[in-house]
Amino acid sequence: MLTINLKGKKAFIAGVGDDQGYGWAIAKELAEAGATILIGTWTPMMKIFTMALESGKFDESRKLSNGSLMEIAKVYPLDAAFDTPEDVPADVLENKRYKDAGGYTISEVAKSVANDYGKIDILIHSLANGSEVQKELLDTSRKGYLGAISASAYSFVSLIKHFGPHMPAGSSALSLTYLAGERVVPGYGGGMSSAKAALDSDTQVLAWEAGRRFGIRVNTISAGPLRSRAARAIGFIERMIEYSKMNAPLKKELEAAEIGATAAFLVSPLASAVTGTIVYVDNGLHAMGVAMDSPTLTQ
Ligand SMILES: NC(=O)c1ccc[n+]([C@@H]2O[C@H](COP(=O)([O-])OP(=O)(O)OC[C@H]3O[C@@H](n4cnc5c(N)ncnc54)[C@H](O)[C@@H]3O)[C@@H](O)[C@H]2O)c1
Repeated sequence: MLTINLKGKKAFIAGVGDDQGYGWAIAKELAEAGATILIGTWTPMMKIFTMALESGKFDESRKLSNGSLMEIAKVYPLDAAFDTPEDVPADVLENKRYKDAGGYTISEVAKSVANDYGKIDILIHSLANGSEVQKELLDTSRKGYLGAISASAYSFVSLIKHFGPHMPAGSSALSLTYLAGERVVPGYGGGMSSAKAALDSDTQVLAWEAGRRFGIRVNTISAGPLRSRAARAIGFIERMIEYSKMNAPLKKELEAAEIGATAAFLVSPLASAVTGTIVYVDNGLHAMGVAMDSPTLTQ
């Protein structure tokens, strides 16, 4: 019988701030498969996330199929827009949500995780941020555009660069991308479409470089629409979910667990020859060339 067995594997999942997003769903499926779960939470969300976790607010969604609760071995504060302490500007250093956190840049988190747990087998990048996401690309400032690429795409390069030396050959890195990087999705603005295009391309180059340097695999999942906190901030998520139902080959709402299950496969030994790939988990929407609910098709 083929099973996904991640017992004895350690996973670091960057980008979990609640139980609503893809990062959480991936953590859950990896836990189902037996992996030890380590989380990187955006520094300003750290307190609110750990308090909610400790108070039992997520207990219902922590439930695994055997009735036990998903264990999160440790939560690290992480700001993936910064690689080293020298990169952190004074206003961020002084910000009340950052002041007492410490050690949240990518290089510092990689070092702390390696000190605490030694080798890491699975690295998940499930984060994105574009401060001008609601603006059309034409109206996006240079700062907003570069910020989106920095937080949402370069962060994956940097995570692999800093975690790679602590990942044994055969390990795996995975990110989450979106169709808007290769097709036009009006409303996904602020340079976020550019960031996803960069992430897609980087997946191939990183597969080559990290494959040769560390012996690790690098893939990305192109996910369909989910009502996560980040997606709600963009503002058009309900319409995208409805659009997908009307136009995708599979007429059903996408479950976050479906992305989690694909992630568990991709980071498992079952996918030991899969690298440099975009895997679409979107009910097939990416395959369509026309919108079936367009009134012009029924005229
Ligand atoms: N929700 C969707 O419809 C959808 C579709 C395709 C792809 N995705 C991708 O899935 C990934 C996860 O997003 P999600 O939709 O599950 O939302 P989410 O809100 O659960 O996850 C995004 C996380 O990124 C964190 N974050 C933001 N800036 C950060 C930074 N500088 N450093 C560290 N963490 C930071 C946020 O705190 C949040 O926890 C993203 O890459 C997103 O683009 C989402």
